[in-house]
Amino acid sequence: MADRVLRLGVVGLSRGFDLTRATLTADPRVELVAAADPRAEARAAFQAEFGAPAFATADALLADPAVEVVYIAAPHQAHLELAAAAARAGKHILVEKPMALSLADCRAMTQAAHAAGVHLLVGPSHGFDPPVAWAADFIASGAFGRPRMVTATTFTDFLYRPRRPEELDTAQGGGVIFSQAAHQVDVVRRLIGASVASVRATTGVWDAARPTEGAYQAFLTFDGGASAALTYSGYGRYDTDALMGWVGETGGRKDPEAYAVARGRLETAAEDDLKAARAYGAGAAKAAPPVGHEHFGLVIVACEGGDLRLTATGVEIYGPQARRTVELPLAAATRHGVIDELWAAIVEGQPPRHDGAWGTENLTVCLAILRSAAEGREVAISEIEDFA
Ligand SMILES: NC(=O)c1ccc[n+]([C@@H]2O[C@H](COP(=O)([O-])OP(=O)(O)OC[C@H]3O[C@@H](n4cnc5c(N)ncnc54)[C@H](O)[C@@H]3O)[C@@H](O)[C@H]2O)c1
Repeated sequence: MADRVLRLGVVGLSRGFDLTRATLTADPRVELVAAADPRAEARAAFQAEFGAPAFATADALLADPAVEVVYIAAPHQAHLELAAAAARAGKHILVEKPMALSLADCRAMTQAAHAAGVHLLVGPSHGFDPPVAWAADFIASGAFGRPRMVTATTFTDFLYRPRRPEELDTAQGGGVIFSQAAHQVDVVRRLIGASVASVRATTGVWDAARPTEGAYQAFLTFDGGASAALTYSGYGRYDTDALMGWVGETGGRKDPEAYAVARGRLETAAEDDLKAARAYGAGAAKAAPPVGHEHFGLVIVACEGGDLRLTATGVEIYGPQARRTVELPLAAATRHGVIDELWAAIVEGQPPRHDGAWGTENLTVCLAILRSAAEGREVAISEIEDFA
């Protein structure tokens, strides 16, 4: 263990935490010193795995002086209250995406962190994926001139994974706009490196049994004239991992023969039971080690002087005369980019990229997607900001 470590307390031993767990365990810059979750089963598993206290409430964790950074991995609706309490307790904050469900909540969180003099980061999200970060830096170098168009297309089975009732209710933050557009918007903003100016979108609610958005298309224009076309479907039919060498979203090997598995499971058991079986502490098998980087499906960037395509192992570069591939080495665990940014902020005093303002802008675009689809028109981002 290094001399200086980030002493992290996790609030919400959720699926989100479980996906980040390998990173938190493997990275010598981090020590998991506490957790909080109302589920006794999850607390017992955490204590057994990390030999650290697990509390029934966030307040108890926030009172623990051993905790320096709070990783808020509880459901979206709890982010504001938990972040505000963490800031009051003088703890740095890493909060899962989406940052919150309204711009007012995002602003309150940012202000609370600012007033307390603590850092607030929003993540992990796919904007941290190494191929995205590498491509963004390459684009920013100007080697291919300005970025002009991004195509981002993701087809998953998101809507049929076991859900809490509120995850199927848009008013409570359910559906793919809050949970998945938050990633896709993060990726394209990171690549283009400018603010979104307007959005024209449609959304799809195609399954009456799961009455929230399961799909969307959105056309984003950016300050400076670039644009991005986003397509997402979580209806569990086509799978864009087919375009990524059958490396799944979290970097693991995926079985190309498996089809409609998530939908099939929902027909065989109660959804609550399926959800509980997948939760941290329920004894589910650990994820296989990554064979590729985390990714969010097909992403192609057209710059004035060349194109880039992100893959699960690196970046394909299509220049004026030649084409080449940059392979990016895999780390022991994915998601280390989040720790890099957290470390740089807290230990080295560098302002984080994925700060409260960044997370707020991501949410603004998500809200603009919903508004544009509801009103059937292009929506300026300034309208959403004024409204919130
Ligand atoms: N970055 C990613 O890849 C990723 C993946 C999945 C989820 N997430 C995010 O993680 C967050 C949690 O979602 P999920 O689907 O993983 O949740 P989940 O349903 O798997 O688990 C939620 C957990 O939070 C606990 N909890 C609820 N309220 C709490 C509170 N006030 N204090 C402490 N614990 C509390 C519950 O007991 C449960 O263990 C969401 O914001 C989601 O967007 C991110």
